[in-house]
Amino acid sequence: MTSYQTIEVEHRGAVGVVTLSRPDALNALNTQLMGEVTAAVSELDQDGQIGCIVLTGSRKAFAAGADIKEMQSLSYMDAYSSDWFAAWDRLTAVRKPLIAAVSGYALGGGCELAMLCDLIIAADNAKFGQPEIKLGVIPGIGGTQRLTRAVGKAKAMEMCLTGRMMDATEAERSGLVARVVPVDLLTEEALETASAIAGMSTPVAMMVKESVDRAHETTLSEGVRFERRVFHATFATDDQKEGMAAFVDKRVPSFTDR
Ligand code: CAA
Repeated sequence: MTSYQTIEVEHRGAVGVVTLSRPDALNALNTQLMGEVTAAVSELDQDGQIGCIVLTGSRKAFAAGADIKEMQSLSYMDAYSSDWFAAWDRLTAVRKPLIAAVSGYALGGGCELAMLCDLIIAADNAKFGQPEIKLGVIPGIGGTQRLTRAVGKAKAMEMCLTGRMMDATEAERSGLVARVVPVDLLTEEALETASAIAGMSTPVAMMVKESVDRAHETTLSEGVRFERRVFHATFATDDQKEGMAAFVDKRVPSFTDR
């Protein structure tokens, strides 16, 4: 396995776990970390043994944002020419389900990174925010778009304009996170959810992800049409035969398609 300096990567059965690890900077997202996370997640995505990926941080911080010290002296041309942050878009090409397990701060780029994942499981100490305005900038990894889609205009506008943080309870109530769990159980709960997903048919889980994502990308009628075609395609898999046969035989299915 490739070795990294700013993250740790583990295989837990069919689940790949990527842990952000820049403890001195509350996992601030610098260029090196961006390269390592996107490379590690892409590698896990290609790995036939892996059915689901978990991205997590430390107890105190999932990530406290893009690295301000690295960015502070950038000129417009530096930012524009290098298309600063564009590498994060690689995560949108990941086809396997990607879960963010968030404890502590998920601010700025940290909140945006969590929202780039397919679902967020939050510890009860999690805090989400887009405080960029306090630094004289705006979110740059999709925060104004994904937060608005997740929690609606009123809350997104308030959070991006004031930089206020949202705690885990409000985040769950607002639809930003799927579930809140006690901080000591975060890893266990995230792994349990990820293992359950990894135990499903991997190609069918990928089809679910692709179909749910269409809801944000297209009209309702086109989205439903897309879903219907993909539903029909599931009948081309061995896993559909196995899943339905197992139900009829009253046994646990064993999915084998990869
Ligand atoms: N970039 C670089 N370093 C950071 C950082 C960041 N985003 N966040 C924290 N750190 C560093 C601090 O500078 C500090 O380092 P030193 O010990 O060398 O001084 C270390 O991490 C610990 O941080 P604090 O001492 O500040 O810890 P705290 O517990 O007092 O406060 C915090 C925690 C409230 C999260 C505070 O660190 C903070 O406000 N961080 C910045 C949050 C922020 O503004 N994020 C948005 C960044 S911009 C962005 O993300 C743009 C985008 O759209 C992608």
